[in-house]
Amino acid sequence: MSDKKIIFSGIQPSGKITLGNYLGALSNWVELQDEYQNYYCIVDMHAITVPQIPKDLRENTLLLLSQYIASGIDPNKSTIFIQSHVPQHVELSWVLQSMTYMGELGRMTQYKDKSAKGGENLNSALFTYPVLMASDILLYSTDLVPVGEDQKQHLELSRDLAQRFNNRYSDTFKIPEVYTPKVGARVMSLQDPSKKMSKSDENENGYISLMDSNDVIIKKVKRAVTDSVGIVNYSDEQPGIKNLLDICSKFEKVSPQDLALRYQGKGYGEFKSDAAEIIAQGLRPVREKANEYMNDKAYLEEIYSQGAQKAEEVASKMLSKVYKKIGFIPKKRI
Ligand code: AMP
Ligand code: TRP
Repeated sequence: MSDKKIIFSGIQPSGKITLGNYLGALSNWVELQDEYQNYYCIVDMHAITVPQIPKDLRENTLLLLSQYIASGIDPNKSTIFIQSHVPQHVELSWVLQSMTYMGELGRMTQYKDKSAKGGENLNSALFTYPVLMASDILLYSTDLVPVGEDQKQHLELSRDLAQRFNNRYSDTFKIPEVYTPKVGARVMSLQDPSKKMSKSDENENGYISLMDSNDVIIKKVKRAVTDSVGIVNYSDEQPGIKNLLDICSKFEKVSPQDLALRYQGKGYGEFKSDAAEIIAQGLRPVREKANEYMNDKAYLEEIYSQGAQKAEEVASKMLSKVYKKIGFIPKKRI
């Protein structure tokens, strides 16, 4: 057994992932990888809480796996797997649902946002979604969950549920901590810097997909909404410029304030063309490698099969413990 602390995180294959997913989540996983024992999941069961086209879901799942590896998640250091391959996630989720209050779920902002858009045809999984997320995390005795800012509230719920179970039965679950990066935790839309960058944005110019070509990236950055101040400052008064500075600072590994200093006395045009180049060059290797992995389905199959096997070993032990504690009769093999 390794005495390293444990990380669990996941992304939904509900479309092509964006620069926001990359800077808010994926790139940080790579940085934490050596220090921790890691589980990185492709949460396909979460993705179906909004309608998916089966063919696209299959494609996006394999693409996300390719992007994990292309970003630097090393299958020899991390357990990479697909959520639907490890049935214990939904099984634990049912147990946890029986201890979750409707009021708690009703307060989740992601649910409130998505349900506001969905009108009357809401499915119940959209409501219980955070409980499945809690079970993802708690099955692996996770210490740390690296995610973007928007997931903090879900993490709070995971902690509450773990504590509730431990109090009601006895110490079982580790209480996970959230990890959000200092810069990049909330990458904003290029078209409306008051909204987070999202792969479900109707306006394609609002987000950069990890698979966008250099030309497309450059065009989108040049079209990014800014302001009429005309000076490159790192300030809340200039959210469009601030967003671009944050993004570039992550690639350049300098503070956004220092980056702004480079543009003293220069206009937005010059800043935007540099920003476009930094982002395009930063994403190019990930895109190219991901395309290579997409052409090697046998390799991808090997990674996700081994990952599921390793994950299930851990998850099944935790689930048996939980079932026993709540009073279910252990199944006997005959
Ligand atoms: P999702 O696409 O909802 O599965 O999100 C996967 C991960 O990316 C989560 O950790 C999110 O917090 C993170 N993420 C999504 N959008 C952004 C964004 N615009 N800025 C920063 N992180 C994000
Ligand atoms: N809910 C997360 C999102 O929308 C994805 C997710 C599901 C997740 N299970 C997780 C993230 C477990 C971290 C840990 O972004």
